[in-house]
Amino acid sequence: MTIGIHPLHPLFVGEVSGADLTRPLSVAEIAEIEAAIATYAVLVFRDQRITDEQQLGFSECFGSLEHTGGTGISKPSEQRLHPAFADVSNLDVGGEVLARDNRRRLYSLGNMLWHSDSSFKAVPAKYSLLSGRVVVDKGGETEFADMRAAYDSFDDATKAEIEDLVCEHSLMYSRDVLGFEDLTEIEKATMRPVRQVLVRTHPVSGRKSVYLASHIGKIIGWPVPEARAFIRDLTEQVTQPEFVYRHVWRPFDLVMWDNRCTMHRARRYDATSVRDMRRTTVAGDAPTVAMGPSNI
Ligand SMILES: [Fe+2]
Repeated sequence: MTIGIHPLHPLFVGEVSGADLTRPLSVAEIAEIEAAIATYAVLVFRDQRITDEQQLGFSECFGSLEHTGGTGISKPSEQRLHPAFADVSNLDVGGEVLARDNRRRLYSLGNMLWHSDSSFKAVPAKYSLLSGRVVVDKGGETEFADMRAAYDSFDDATKAEIEDLVCEHSLMYSRDVLGFEDLTEIEKATMRPVRQVLVRTHPVSGRKSVYLASHIGKIIGWPVPEARAFIRDLTEQVTQPEFVYRHVWRPFDLVMWDNRCTMHRARRYDATSVRDMRRTTVAGDAPTVAMGPSNI
């Protein structure tokens, strides 16, 4: 296979042609895709009518998968999919649309805030692969922002200021933004903050990027209000329209992105429409900061 790439945005995002994800890919084909994502950061594969098993098989070609365990607050009996899937749908275990006030639905609205998947884990995610099995007609787009181009746009003073900063990430911080506050003690225990550098260098492309997410609640060594104001300011800068691609979903699109150098967010849609999106997540290789007592 030699894949073709058609750019969908001036800065990043490539639509891939010549790939059939329903069959096993060779080592050479996987290497082509890894080279493409190192350049484009987001890859769009159209019309991939894959099963869950095929999605798992394709995803595992890039490394070991995170076992996300639903949205993080679902009980095992409430989970519709294999534990290596993040169920990004609005469906319950019986396939019914979740009620508007359903707790899992409200929790999952955190996906509408700009973020990078699993930045709240000590070893954050490498790639995410999101398959649109049933998409909505209106709304429900996913927006991506290129954190490499955004970093490049910073002036020298900003680059110097952020170079060595370390942030604290937790699901508690992003849910707090939404006013989702009724977390149990057990849930809070699973959301203990972890530390991540604010500037990352991509291991393949060598490009620097700014590593932001709505999961950030603190900058180490900074007063909290100053940190949150600064992070909000940076987030506004890096999500200006020039850095953003909006993906309008077609049925059976599979979108693969590199969480190390992009942010994304879901857009609003009619809560009564069926939306069945299934994500697999390739785990990262190592923490972004040295593991210490505060990052265990
Ligand atoms: Fe996400």
